[in-house]
This record gives sequence, C-alpha cells and structure tokens, in this order.
Amino acid sequence: MKNADYLTGITTSGTPHLGNYVGAIRPAVETSKNKELESYYFLADYHSLIKNHDPNLRKQSALEIAAAWIALGLDYENCVFYRQSDIPEIPELTWILTSLTSKGLMNRAHAYKALTAENEGQEYKDPDKGITMGLFSYPILMAADILMFNARKVPVGKDQVQHLEMTRDIAAKFNHVYKKLFILPEVVVDDTSAVLSGLDGRKMSKSYHNFIPLFDTQKRLRKLIMKIKTNSLGPDEPKDPDTCTLFSIYKAFASKSETFALTERYKKGIAWGTMKQELFEYIDEILKNPRKEYEELVKNPSDIDAILKKGAIKAREFSVPFLEKIRETIGIQSIA
Ligand code: TRP
Repeated sequence: MKNADYLTGITTSGTPHLGNYVGAIRPAVETSKNKELESYYFLADYHSLIKNHDPNLRKQSALEIAAAWIALGLDYENCVFYRQSDIPEIPELTWILTSLTSKGLMNRAHAYKALTAENEGQEYKDPDKGITMGLFSYPILMAADILMFNARKVPVGKDQVQHLEMTRDIAAKFNHVYKKLFILPEVVVDDTSAVLSGLDGRKMSKSYHNFIPLFDTQKRLRKLIMKIKTNSLGPDEPKDPDTCTLFSIYKAFASKSETFALTERYKKGIAWGTMKQELFEYIDEILKNPRKEYEELVKNPSDIDAILKKGAIKAREFSVPFLEKIRETIGIQSIA
C-alpha cells in the first residue's frame, strides 16, 4: 500500500447541500477515479464526538454522508474510503503527537480563540467555559488523520488552512526530535471550484440556513428553487447574469456553451418564473439518479458498512506497519 497522494476528511454532520457538492464533493469524486493517484477519503466520526453526544445520530449521520458520496459517484473501489473510527492506529498516533505538541500552538487555533473571546465578553469571566479538551486538541487529531497515511496533499476549505499549518509544525517537530518519518503535507485550497450562492444570495451555507439539500424530494427541490431571491425586473427586461443567484447556480453545473447561451437570454430578457422552472429541471436531471441511489443505499446500511469496512482494510495495510515503525522509532515495543 502506497502513502496517500490526496487525503481529506469529511465531517459527518448535517445534510449535504448543493454548495458542498460543487465545492468539495464533485472535485473529490473526480480525483477518486484517477488511477494514477492514491486518494484517501474518510468520515471524521471521532471529530464528531466533540459536538454531538447522541450515539444514534452519530451512526446515522456517518451512514448518510457515506451514502451521499457513493451515490454521487465516489469511486470507492479505486480510492480508499473509510471511517476514521475503523482505524485504531489514528487515536494512538494522536497521543504520540499530543505529547510533542506545545500547548501554545493549540492556544493559537482560530476556533478555540473565537470561543474564549466570546466567553471573555460574558460576565462570568471563565474563558474556557464549555470548552472540552477534545475541542482544544482537535487540530492534533486532524494532524494524526493526515500523518497516519503520510499524505502529500490535503484539499480543504479555507477555514481549515490553519489546521494544515499546525499539522506541518507537528510533523516537523516529530522529525526533528526522533527521526524523519513524516512528509510535511501541502494544503490544497481550490479557488477555482465554484462557491455557490444560497436562497438569499449569500454564500450557500448550513449556518445561514439558505441551502438546497442534495437529496430532498423533487417537490421540495422545486419549491426551494422557486424561493430563490430575484429582483423586481419585468419578464421582458434585460437582466444581469453576474449578480443573479439563479444564474450562478446554473453556471456551476452547465457547460461553457450552455452558460453562454443563457447569458444571451438574460441580455434579451428572461422571465424569472421561466428561469426558475428551467433551473429546477436542469438540477433535477443531474440529481435524479443519485437521489434514487441514495434512497436505496440508506435503506441498506449494511451495504454501506461493507464498503467502509473494505476501505478500512485497505487503509490499515498502510497504517498498521507505519505505526509499528513509529513505535519502534520512539522506543515503544511492538504489539505484534
Ligand atoms: N476538520 C475538517 C473539516 O471540518 C474535517 C477533517 C478532519 C479533515 N480530519 C481531516 C480534513 C483531515 C482534512 C484532513 O472540514
């Protein structure tokens, strides 16, 4: 088993939406098919322990997110697709790395700083109120996810860039203190992949509640698209595609020539009702088959489980011997 060329973690909470699809899922699905690359995708369910304390919800979310990725075309035979909690080497490496990581590095994490700042604004003056050690050391678990497979490239959203810098710091520290075992991973922030606008025109995001779920019913999909905010220009008036949410969503899916053709129709004037109906039909056509497959998959959780278990076996072909090497390097005896 080769180390990872690409590796990324998928948070197992919430419902995947159109914005997640064009920003993260679609590019990952493309990479997963590449025969020249060893790409690793995993469900970060240990990370979910920090926020969610409901065992059934945790299991269910992981299955649904896995079903979504499979339904959208992830080539799970070609890539390595697994659940983080099926790889016991990861928490072991987490402890090894925790013992090397300076507390000061974690103090500087944006997510932690934002929470302590919020607490300091309150009367009770306990900056750490409600903050668990899990949240505080989240970046170390993430470093272990990446370093366990000596990943070269890690595609993430902008909010995760600092975590990658920390991973590099931690890897460099290990290499310096013990022996050079770790590759310093590179962050890949894909600025070319589309950022989708949501129902209200702001960036489509869970936190704004303006998203279009990928696997709602056809009826709900239509209803949401009909709700997208437009301006009050009349049906025959020329319209500006560049400031139009409907157009930006269409563009994220359409080919260059289709986009060009629509631009021409905007210039001439297109009624909002027509545009909404066409956008609905266009998106529905893309989601129709994945939606069916998704529904089948979630009905058969044992099939998803089998796929993930197979992925874990592949992943452990790398992590088991690599952890052995790490143990030997730091002077912990072999378990075998
Ligand atoms: N923290 C990432 C997020 O919120 C998810 C994640 C966990 C991850 N472990 C990772 C991403 C390792 C890349 C590599 O999106």
